[in-house]
Amino acid sequence: MQETYRALRGTRDILPAEAERWQFVEHTARTLFARYGFREIRTPILESTGLFARSVGAATDIVRKEMYAFSVGTESIALRPEATASVARAVVEHALFREIAVGYPERYYYIGPMFRHERPQKGRQRQFHQIGGEVLGAAEPVVDAETIQMVEALLDALGVERRELLLNSVGDGACRPRFRDELRSWLAAHLDRLCADCRRRYEENPLRVFDCKEPADRELLQRAPRLTELLCTACDEHFTQVRRGLEALGVRHRVEPHLVRGLDYYQRTVFEVVAEGLGAQNALLGGGRYDGLVQELGGPELPGFGFSIGLERLVLLLDPRRVPSGGVDAALIAVGAEAWLAAQALAGRLRGAGVSCVAPTVERPLAAQLRRADRLRARHAVFVGETELAERSFTVKDLRTGAQERVEESALASRLRRGGSDEH
Ligand code: HAM
Repeated sequence: MQETYRALRGTRDILPAEAERWQFVEHTARTLFARYGFREIRTPILESTGLFARSVGAATDIVRKEMYAFSVGTESIALRPEATASVARAVVEHALFREIAVGYPERYYYIGPMFRHERPQKGRQRQFHQIGGEVLGAAEPVVDAETIQMVEALLDALGVERRELLLNSVGDGACRPRFRDELRSWLAAHLDRLCADCRRRYEENPLRVFDCKEPADRELLQRAPRLTELLCTACDEHFTQVRRGLEALGVRHRVEPHLVRGLDYYQRTVFEVVAEGLGAQNALLGGGRYDGLVQELGGPELPGFGFSIGLERLVLLLDPRRVPSGGVDAALIAVGAEAWLAAQALAGRLRGAGVSCVAPTVERPLAAQLRRADRLRARHAVFVGETELAERSFTVKDLRTGAQERVEESALASRLRRGGSDEH
């Protein structure tokens, strides 16, 4: 028997009906982001493995356990597990920081696949997609608030309800070491009750204990020291200003003192939006400030702030009523023998005039053509028969209302386009 193939575990095909929802989400995001001055950047999916160890952090789960990394020749290559590092790399490589002026950071967005070798479950894939944005060149807390507000505006536009914005500060090089010491002493006193992974984290990078998924550990860690209580003056002030900015912009949030995120490059603000309806993987998006990253990658001192939204998760929560119905403007119905060829020719002319339409490629019974018009979610049926062709005037049936009218060929394209344009 011949071997058949299936998509790899943790990867999936986005079939046309679902792709329409993806396109709607992407289109809404692109339009909204452009209003905030974000421009698209497309970076490669393949990067040097070292880039992610350097930025995301060698001790993180993403780099230690989940990265698709391999060697080709003498190069060590990874499928990107995220794109913030890639954007920062591109900014350094192309000296894009030269475009930045005080008070005018550069804003980039990206949409594309990311790869993490995780255990697949609802909302968790090995190849997944993100819509992300990165703002480079401004340390001011108003940037954090403005960018978070944009993300919230996107979720509103897509009708994502029952969600919550969680906010925290992870401090900076001045206060985090002090917190790490406090946390380490606290963990030392509770080591015997923590899982093996947390005991390793205690040795390597104690903040990572907050990534732990073990319910017993999580319960215990509720009582661990809180970073927000140990912030240095500058970080504390930044955090206060971000919260004030969010309030001014009407963005509701909750401070979650143990939110640390699974990546090492963050400084000060971190945030996530969690939503009902996603199951155990309830984080719809996450992000934060990464002021040291560009310098870490060999660039100048350039503050950064950004976010990434899980596209699969976003599509799951999308209000389906907001998605414009797909389908074509018209199905051409060939009436009588040989009319299908004339219908094909008419279809060609209509397409040239901006109408989406389909005509049969062989002679077919009328009933079959009408059934197909339904399947194609055509908004109109256009009947193409000998008389119509001779008179250059066609019967157009509105398939939603059932109303029929005769339309001159010269007016046909605008009539059909207009019929669909109220939905796009
Ligand atoms: P992250 O929290 O690792 O952050 O990922 C952001 C979002 O991507 C998650 O909230 C989730 O929706 C989605 N996601 C992550 N892993 C998976 C998966 N295996 N399957 C499906 N969806 C997934 C980042 O990636 C940072 N680059 C965010 C950022 C941008 N920080 C600053 N700028």
